[in-house]
Amino acid sequence: MTRNDETRSSDQSRRDFLKASAAAGAVLGAAPFVTHGQAVKRVFKIALIGCGGRGNGALSDHMEAIKYLNQKLGWNIEAQVVATGDWFRGKAVGTGKRYGVPESQCFGGADCYKKVIEAGPDIILMAQPPVFRPVHFEAAIKAGKHVFFEKPSAVDPPGVRRVIAAGELARQKGLSVVAGTQRRHEAGYNRRAIEIKDGAYGRILGGRVSWCQGSIFTNTPVNPKGPDQLCGPWQIWVEMSGDHICEQHVHNIDIANWFLGTHPVAAVGFGYRIKRVAGNMYDFFSVDLEYPGNVHIHSMCRQQDKCWTSVGETFTFEKNKPGDFKPQTPDPYEAVGYHSSGYVSEHAHLLWSIITEKPINEAQNVAWATAAAILGREAAYSGQRITWEEMFEKPDKKSRWYDLQLRPSAEDFETGQIVLPKDGDIRYPGKEA
Ligand SMILES: NC(=O)c1ccc[n+]([C@@H]2O[C@H](COP(=O)([O-])OP(=O)(O)OC[C@H]3O[C@@H](n4cnc5c(N)ncnc54)[C@H](O)[C@@H]3O)[C@@H](O)[C@H]2O)c1
Repeated sequence: MTRNDETRSSDQSRRDFLKASAAAGAVLGAAPFVTHGQAVKRVFKIALIGCGGRGNGALSDHMEAIKYLNQKLGWNIEAQVVATGDWFRGKAVGTGKRYGVPESQCFGGADCYKKVIEAGPDIILMAQPPVFRPVHFEAAIKAGKHVFFEKPSAVDPPGVRRVIAAGELARQKGLSVVAGTQRRHEAGYNRRAIEIKDGAYGRILGGRVSWCQGSIFTNTPVNPKGPDQLCGPWQIWVEMSGDHICEQHVHNIDIANWFLGTHPVAAVGFGYRIKRVAGNMYDFFSVDLEYPGNVHIHSMCRQQDKCWTSVGETFTFEKNKPGDFKPQTPDPYEAVGYHSSGYVSEHAHLLWSIITEKPINEAQNVAWATAAAILGREAAYSGQRITWEEMFEKPDKKSRWYDLQLRPSAEDFETGQIVLPKDGDIRYPGKEA
């Protein structure tokens, strides 16, 4: 079956649901496809790209979200996994087996994402290494798929811009895009965001966001001989993950962007590598993110044993919340609520937005958080103060940051023209000025 056939059949079934609900006088948003007192079954075709830890987790969170929605809203949704893709085909087959996907629909290699898209899913879940996300995301949106994709959304400025453009296309097409930034789907964070927006605390004057923990990931030099050694332990290669400021700390930077309602205008920072011998990442970063209005957020992250650990965000506000404060802004997820796990809520909110035809589009949010992390990373690597404008917005400024593309790129994996990185080959502040 072709991709277009799939799209047509799923549009047809959606129209049938809506007709059924209109006949029964059901209220869209509460129970969109209840007819004669019975929920009409709706089956979503799902596919997964990137069948590792988080990919398998996302698939099981998706199934849990369906249970949650059926129970909470009396819906009758099911999911059928129609295809899986991974660089290593064996991993795609392994995941596929657990969900009854025929082996012929489990794909491997650099172009696995194209075959997954052609299998005709309604929704694609993406948990491949970040370097591939812009290209895979753009292809999925062009093909008219709803997307759940993991953070970060890119590893370099061209990748960030590509995700923002594809997100805009998704908006025009009415597609839903939810990112794996769980905090945006948790009740507590949403409550706080609304209070801040509605003025409970006055202005944010400054803050600190952190992801400091012990060492993780392999620390045995890999000495890569080919792409398998990049796609396997991808986390330790800057070209694949964007370094841990981008891969992991992006969660906390996203909160600063969200609560401040914008992105940083510049960054200056420090970082280095002391204990790692594998890959080419730094061990730590300490970055001053400058936001509009002279607001400074200290972004710090470290993956080093026997040091202070902290994962979270703290802000200094202009004032305390008045005791009788009542927010005016409604909770965006009031109608669907929150599962106790943010990981599950992401999928519940995604499905809810598709069914009620109120698309959620988080592409720009996660792209901006990723961009802020890249800005901080490059400030630390280079020892320079870098502005958002010169890195993401103004090619005419002839900045070397605007076109900074890490190689190998996603396209290089498809053409096979791969220049391999080396263990310990890191960038030194001041060297490139
Ligand atoms: N939101 C969260 O809390 C959270 C937690 C963990 C990981 N993540 C993110 O999820 C993503 C995956 O992380 P993970 O922990 O599952 O890593 P993982 O290594 O367990 O899984 C990644 C999978 O992608 C596969 N892969 C590599 N190249 C590919 C390609 N070109 N096409 C398709 N698949 C390819 C790998 O073989 C592997 O199976 C990362 O972006 C990571 O940052 C998010």
